[in-house]
Formats: sequence, C-alpha cells, structure tokens
Amino acid sequence: MFEERKSIRKYRSDPVSSQDILTILDAARVAPSAKNRQPWKFLVFQGEKKADLLNEVEKGIEKSKKSLFMPKKFKKGMASAENTLRIMREAPVLILVLNTLSGDPYPPIFAGKRVSEIHNTLSIGAAIENMLLAATNMGLGSLWIGNTVYSHKEISKYLGIKEQIASAVAIGYADETPEGRPKKELAQIVEGI
Ligand SMILES: Cc1cc2nc3c(=O)[nH]c(=O)nc-3n(C[C@H](O)[C@H](O)[C@H](O)COP(=O)(O)O)c2cc1C
Repeated sequence: MFEERKSIRKYRSDPVSSQDILTILDAARVAPSAKNRQPWKFLVFQGEKKADLLNEVEKGIEKSKKSLFMPKKFKKGMASAENTLRIMREAPVLILVLNTLSGDPYPPIFAGKRVSEIHNTLSIGAAIENMLLAATNMGLGSLWIGNTVYSHKEISKYLGIKEQIASAVAIGYADETPEGRPKKELAQIVEGI
C-alpha cells in the first residue's frame, strides 16, 4: 500500500460517498500525536461550498503574485499554487486540515514554543498520511496540499477561523496513473545497518 500511494493531480468528477470520506477521516482520528494532544480538526468541502472556498484561494494567490514583500523563492511557487488550484477545483472533495493549537503561520515564535509547535505539526503530518493511505486502500486518489499557505489570510477571514490551516487534502477517483516520483534508495538515507 505504501508504494501504491502516489500524488494524484487529475480527478474524475464521480462523487465520493460520505461514508468513504468518514472512513478516511477516521484513519486521521486514530493517528499518533505528541502527548496525545490530537491538535487537529477537519473541514470538508464539496460542490458549491468548495467552489466558493476556492474563489477565496484564488484571491489569495492573485494577491500574493502582486506582493512586493514576498520572498523570491515564494514567488517561484506561484505557478505551482495555480496548478494546485486547478487540481482542487477538479477533485470532488477537499478537506482543510486545521492545527487547533496554532494560529497565523507567519509571525515568528519564541524558542520555548518551537518544540511543541514542531510536535503538533508532526502529529498533523501523521494524521494526513493516515488519510492518504486509507484513501489508497479504498481505491481513491489523493493529494496532500501545502499551497493553501498563499491564501491563509483569505481562507481564515472567509471561514471566520483563528486556527492555522496546516494543509489541505484533495480526494477523488483518479483520472491518471502516474509512474511515481523517484525515491531515494535505502542506502542513501539509512546509516547503521
Ligand atoms: C507537506 C506537503 C505539501 C505538498 N503540497 C503540494 C501542493 O500544494 N501541490 C501539489 O501538487 N503537491 C503537493 N505535495 C505533493 C508532493 O509534491 C509529492 O508528495 C511529492 O512530489 C512526491 O510524490 P508522491 O506523493 O507521488 O510520492 C505536497 C506534499 C507534502 C508532503
């Protein structure tokens, strides 16, 4: 199952049943988390609700493109953000993953808060990976999306939320069978065995 999971960037329009979405979210629910804090919340968007949300995402991308203060490497990511927006529009289900113990991702944080911030983010990563593997197991395609970061302000304001939008996950039936991205060999990443 681990090797079968691949990022899917083309989706069929077939809907995903509520039961299947709940099964995927149940996999996230039982993920490990630092001190069992379970610092997550999941907002599901489909149909018109998703289209309206993505109009806000688009506004954020357009604003980011014009921003003089955006670091150069962020600017380079704009094409990727626009492509991800297309994917989110195509996928029938989009799930926003909130970090309930963090807010705006941009201000600097004190060193003392950094460790728990990292641990909460790692915990959310575990929950998201559980979602992707559950989707794969059910014959569904998925994509982990970090590009919502360009529209953090717009999404937060639109939804009236204070929590950090840690990521989004697109789910749907795949309309492509990607070969898979190259992965490093064990020998390149493992020491001591
Ligand atoms: C934290 C994170 C954020 C990501 N954000 C995006 C994204 O915004 N758009 C996108 O197309 N892919 C995104 N991806 C998918 C990666 O590009 C993908 O996992 C990687 O290229 C390896 O391909 P694979 O998932 O098929 O193994 C993200 C993955 C992770 C883990």
